[in-house]
Amino acid sequence: MPRNVKVLLFAASLRKESVNARLASVVKSIVERLGVEADHASMSDFDCPSYDQDAEVESMPQGAQRLRDRLLACDAFMIASPEYNASMSGVIKNTIDWVSRFRPQPFNGKQGFLLSASPSMAGGNRGLWALRVPLEHLGARIYPDMFSLAQAHTAFADDGRLANERLLERLESTIGCFLELVEAAKHYPAIKKHWVEFLGEKPDAATDRTETAATR
Ligand code: FNR
Repeated sequence: MPRNVKVLLFAASLRKESVNARLASVVKSIVERLGVEADHASMSDFDCPSYDQDAEVESMPQGAQRLRDRLLACDAFMIASPEYNASMSGVIKNTIDWVSRFRPQPFNGKQGFLLSASPSMAGGNRGLWALRVPLEHLGARIYPDMFSLAQAHTAFADDGRLANERLLERLESTIGCFLELVEAAKHYPAIKKHWVEFLGEKPDAATDRTETAATR
């Protein structure tokens, strides 16, 4: 059944032979099979120079502007992100830091789904726990289940699908549940929309970073 939702999908790797990019392609075909429109982007679309607050005063990088625009045009995002040194890569964190400076802050209120792929047995899962932190800090609603493809260098069939049918079925059913949540969140607009960077902090207009219905 076609659903009235749209998701932004990209792999957070710049590498040509990226296993995360291959996983993102599998996700794209699943999402489209479920009747949902996917905006399939590349990390190179969003690449930014190292964050510098002085540079921000001059202008925002085009990569950050592109991610902002494409996030705002979607109801949800899905990121397949590599694990570097048991955390997220610097590339994705740097881009998130830039994008977090826009107002309205574009991650706020978006539903998110995280995936990873790695040659390791853990599939890059630790990197997703790290990636979840800044995204949730920015008000994104990150889906509790995350998909980490272990031994990714041997996990794909020649046609690009996941070679293990049972694993593919698990991924499909989890994505189906996520998309139902995205649809529900879209149609029940009273679901949390406001964002207060530090919810328990003493309110102070000089330092508060908040977004309410009135400021969006
Ligand atoms: C890695 N890799 C890696 N893998 C992993 O499972 N846990 C880790 O902590 C790391 N750390 C790490 C650090 C650095 C600097 C590099 C370059 C690589 C291996 C990584 O999973 C592998 O290179 C993947 O192929 C990267 O994903 P893409 O680019 O193929 O999508």
